[in-house]
Amino acid sequence: MQIGWINWLDRNEKNYMNWLDRNEKNYMNWLDILTDKSTKDKSVPMYEQIMRRIDDAIVSGQLPDGTKMPTNRELASLLNVDRSTVARAYLELQLAGLIESHVGRGTFVKSGGRSLPPVKPVSYTANVSLPIAWSEKFARSKDASYSLFSRLPMQPLPKEAIAFTNSIPNQELYPWQEFQKILSGFNNQERLSELFAFSAPDGYPPLIAEIQKLLKKQGIDVGSDEILIVNGSKQGIDIVTSTLVDPSDAIIAEEPTYHLALCDFKSSQARCMPLPIDDSGLRVDMLESMLVNQRAKLLYVTPSFQNPTGTTISLEKRRHLLQVAERYQLPVLEDNVVGDLYYGKQGPPPLRALSGPNSLVIHQGTISKTLFPGFRIGWLLAPKELMGRLRSTKRMRDVTTNTMSQVLLAEYLKRGFYDKHLEEVRQLYGRRKDAMLAALEKHLHGEVTWTKPDGGMSLWMRLPTGCSSRDLLSYAEREGTAFIPGDVFFFAGDRQEYLRLSFVQVDERKIEEGIQRLAKAIRLYLKTRLATRNSKDLLLRDPALT
Ligand SMILES: Cc1ncc(COP(=O)(O)O)c(C=O)c1O
Repeated sequence: MQIGWINWLDRNEKNYMNWLDRNEKNYMNWLDILTDKSTKDKSVPMYEQIMRRIDDAIVSGQLPDGTKMPTNRELASLLNVDRSTVARAYLELQLAGLIESHVGRGTFVKSGGRSLPPVKPVSYTANVSLPIAWSEKFARSKDASYSLFSRLPMQPLPKEAIAFTNSIPNQELYPWQEFQKILSGFNNQERLSELFAFSAPDGYPPLIAEIQKLLKKQGIDVGSDEILIVNGSKQGIDIVTSTLVDPSDAIIAEEPTYHLALCDFKSSQARCMPLPIDDSGLRVDMLESMLVNQRAKLLYVTPSFQNPTGTTISLEKRRHLLQVAERYQLPVLEDNVVGDLYYGKQGPPPLRALSGPNSLVIHQGTISKTLFPGFRIGWLLAPKELMGRLRSTKRMRDVTTNTMSQVLLAEYLKRGFYDKHLEEVRQLYGRRKDAMLAALEKHLHGEVTWTKPDGGMSLWMRLPTGCSSRDLLSYAEREGTAFIPGDVFFFAGDRQEYLRLSFVQVDERKIEEGIQRLAKAIRLYLKTRLATRNSKDLLLRDPALT
């Protein structure tokens, strides 16, 4: 224990007063002696602090020759330290000839002893105060996943910047009034206690019942025992990966793909096998040829409005994908994170709805993109044989999902607010998406290419070959706009010419201004590049995805 003298005495004033009462005859102003701050140094061991204070007091004459010292027990109790600490201090003082003990009489100050050598903080503190090299202690197997975070733009943007970075719901649409109503119902002990208890390991049963209804609307008919409530879809990816994948197993995923899924795949030490995407989603034809040559443990796909490209896998391709997965017994994790955010007619049904009861499809959904991300609620559905394991992984991770958000969400869904909310969200985001596409057409036609999604939150832009969206970002920030550089969505982090533009956060009127700023930044960037490189480097079309 290393605390300063002042703290000791504050805490131990009562002990000290009692001790003084008991030792009135032997009164010595120990308070003055012990509260001198000159040696207060947390890096100096406690016994040494005691010994040095007493030494100072002897040398300065504050403790004259023959003064009776408190016993070990008394001083230990006074200072609230261990008796062995006082014993060690007294021993050092005795060795220096500053005090002497007489059996049966006590310990006394002895004049003529030699004063202690000055404190050498370095020798005493070298082991204690050296900063620990934490980076040497990090788990090496996780390095690849952590490195991604250093590539995400973290710099706060100025307030006036028009940022196309965030793919999260717009705060304007948070249904705060509905939640205010719901919360006002939690006004008695019984209802409030509901929020504070552990929820069932699979999830809060009334919420599971509501999720069942939502899934039914998407054509997915499952029993309540096939649903597991998780802390957002991100946790779903982690749970499925760590349940199925061993180090060096192969995971196939569309490329580019959700960057935080890549983190999970990398930290599982899997071999990641990228599968390209074209205008109608992932290249199922290539999937088959991949599987002929090697086995994979998992296929990860986002069939509708994929993050980051916004592409959707056509119905025909979905059927083909299921056939291939069936033939090669390949489990498929279907991430239906924004399937409900369609801005025209509804897209093709989820893979889970198209597959039979013995489906190889593990399906997941979330409210993070349609309502708000802060509740951290998502759901996994899986065949019963797998569900047992997924449940156990979930319990190992965090026991159960937060009860409060589950109860409130269940109530929100039960009261029927969600459908109307979804409609409002689709209207607003649909308008924003159209505004962005129109602005791109107006300001960047023929200079760069981009995807034209029918839903979701973002679109994917391709710069001419040889360009770097990371380099472009500094030009864009100078013009007052921003985006996510596309390299973070690639397995190897090496594709420089793409960028993701999210359209949901920015007001329609501002979208055009933001794209105008981006267009200016692109032109400035290209001009600078052209000045330093041969213009033949810059090819506009990408054979895989435009
Ligand atoms: C494809 C995809 N999956 C999962 C997630 C994570 O969602 P949640 O907030 O529910 O964890 C995201 C978030 O951006 C995503 O884009």
